[in-house]
Amino acid sequence: MGIITIEKAGEHEDQEVTLRGWLYNLRESGKLLFPIFRDGTGLIQGVVSQKEQPDAFAALRGLTQESSVEITGKIRREPRAPGGYEIGVSRVQVLQRVPESEPYPIQLKEHGVDFLLDRRHLWVRTPRQASILRIRAETSRAAREFMDSQGYTLTDAPIFTPAACEGTTTLFEVQYVDDEKAYLTQSGQLYVEALAAALGKVYCFGPTFRAEKSKTRRHLTEFWMLEPEAAYAHLEDMMTLGEGLVSHIVQSVLRNRAREIETLKRDASKLEPVKPPFPRITYEQALEILRQHGHDVKWGDDFGGDEETTLSQQFDRPVMIHRYPASIKAFYMEPDSARPDLALGFDVLASEGYGEIIGGGERISSYELLLKRLREQKLPEQAFQWYLDLRRYGSVPHAGFGMGLERVVAWICGTEHVREVIPFPRMIYRVYP
Ligand code: 4AD
Ligand code: MG
Repeated sequence: MGIITIEKAGEHEDQEVTLRGWLYNLRESGKLLFPIFRDGTGLIQGVVSQKEQPDAFAALRGLTQESSVEITGKIRREPRAPGGYEIGVSRVQVLQRVPESEPYPIQLKEHGVDFLLDRRHLWVRTPRQASILRIRAETSRAAREFMDSQGYTLTDAPIFTPAACEGTTTLFEVQYVDDEKAYLTQSGQLYVEALAAALGKVYCFGPTFRAEKSKTRRHLTEFWMLEPEAAYAHLEDMMTLGEGLVSHIVQSVLRNRAREIETLKRDASKLEPVKPPFPRITYEQALEILRQHGHDVKWGDDFGGDEETTLSQQFDRPVMIHRYPASIKAFYMEPDSARPDLALGFDVLASEGYGEIIGGGERISSYELLLKRLREQKLPEQAFQWYLDLRRYGSVPHAGFGMGLERVVAWICGTEHVREVIPFPRMIYRVYP
């Protein structure tokens, strides 16, 4: 009579087992009770008859939602029950009874998203949210597995930084010590560039911060980014690495988290084609496609959400767009020697309009050009001296990219907004709970 988890219930058919969890829902029908229990791994329906199990019946009758319980009973096959099994409850131990005077605030009905976000610490208990968080975990696991298999070493970049990496408008400034200021990192890139010159192929994977003023469904102020960087690598190498990484993640989730995909009612057939090669188009080809679809875009415009949606709708898998105008890309991007007005950068747009999941490319390796760009963009030269050292001492061509974890998970899960795919979202105007 061991303790089991609900996801393993099917392996214990006709055995008496104990489950430890919470009361998710309770339906009372005369002398029968139909409780539904959850334990974090799944839901299971129970059946209790007053006549046969009077003690269990008394303990469960009127029990409040989310009360914590240990229950013992026999697992039975029941094709009509969600999950295919139910438990004939014979014993109930209530650990904590949620008081009737202060019922659990999240009922099993639709609630507004602000209501739920204020109660995120409880909202994570619902099966949908738990499924999303398991898919997030699988995404991280598969991502690291892929990077490690490609010979990349995980190195960690700092969170306190002296300067901007991705423009100065989204920097979070913090009081460091005395009157010294620091910033929360926007990207580990500059640091993995140093580490790539030390170890060859590296990546970092951790939280990054941007004071995004606009409220969109794709932006958080705190999000996780995986950033590979490789010495002696070029744009094409990173495009190949990026499509391999995204494909490995999607296929791993489909294989290892099929049940969660089903709980989310996500159409898996939309994800099945996500395999290399991904279509590769230039920025200028993307402009052509956009114009054919009625977008009024001119050379030098950056793509917004609507443009990204149109582009991604042309393909059954993510699309890679490369060689953007240098003027709309970051200061560190290597120009294309054949067309110096273009940067050797690329973005990967997820399918179905989920937007940019990867941005990256080749880095400037010339000391003189990098210094020129720093000056043009009026970035503080002093804070970048260590970064310039990488071009003073054995500079080599090198490239990398950043993959936004929440964008990838939101796309795989098919969620409306990235705020649902991180345990405690941080957004402009929200740091609670
Ligand atoms: O395109 P971005 O700004 O690129 C960089 O930060 C490079 N320094 C990365 C590198 O080359 N090492 O950001 C990379 C990715 C985006 O494609 C997007 O997926 C995600 O990070 N991202 C965000 N995700 C959620 N909320 C935000 N505010 C995000 N900003 C970027
Ligand atoms: Mg970008």
